[in-house]
Amino acid sequence: MANLYGVGVGPGDPDLVTFKAIQIMQKADLIICPEKAKGAGSTALEIVRKHIENRLDHVRLMVFPMAGMKETWEPAWKANAEQIVEAWKTGKEIAFLTLGDPSIYSTWSYLQGYLPKEIKPEWIPGVPAFCAVAARLNHDLVLGDENLAVVSSSEEEAMRSALTWADTLVIMKPKRAIASIRKILVDENLMELWEMVSNCGKETEKIWKGSVEDFPEEIPYFATMILKTGGSDE
Ligand SMILES: C[S@@+](CC[C@H](N)C(=O)[O-])C[C@H]1O[C@@H](n2cnc3c(N)ncnc32)[C@H](O)[C@@H]1O
Repeated sequence: MANLYGVGVGPGDPDLVTFKAIQIMQKADLIICPEKAKGAGSTALEIVRKHIENRLDHVRLMVFPMAGMKETWEPAWKANAEQIVEAWKTGKEIAFLTLGDPSIYSTWSYLQGYLPKEIKPEWIPGVPAFCAVAARLNHDLVLGDENLAVVSSSEEEAMRSALTWADTLVIMKPKRAIASIRKILVDENLMELWEMVSNCGKETEKIWKGSVEDFPEEIPYFATMILKTGGSDE
């Protein structure tokens, strides 16, 4: 029986790719690496490259556009899904690479809506970016009875309401809303508490620490902000 795997490859450090992910890529007939636009390159492929040097001829880059109206990008997604189904029907083992963990804001998750029910893919966990970022900052995310919220920066109200109950806020994709995040921090008097790591685990990694003066106006797409408002109760 052919298999389709959604393989989480972690956020950037090739040494954080799991042993299971490597085993699956080593046996897969087809290793699908998503890219945003033709020629843009695949971040997931760069993360795993050193583990699959011997299998680069099994790699297929696949363009998954996301910008603009659904009508403009959906045909490409449908065509990609058809290619995957065709390969699966011929008995190929397929590894679809996805950044971080497949269950968190991933192309792989969206793709499920375009696959027929008879395909039962396996999800292979990877290190999520926010866990790697906490590790890079050398501290916990939550402790004891504390609560953690993982929010997308596109929802300003979600960020504000999460601050009413969460001790720690993980803000994914902060690039898209850096001005509104700043406003929330000022409004809530939390300007000294933010921390951020961009390109965590990559050569271009940068750690940003909370202060009013250092709050950026521009940041890379691959950045995760952590806002720890709760104190430990232990
Ligand atoms: C489409 S989501 C993918 C999340 C991924 N599935 C995960 O488990 O972390 C992209 C967002 O993940 C975060 N991210 C991914 N890689 C990162 C990295 N190397 N450093 C910091 N943040 C990263 C950023 O917030 C980025 O905007």
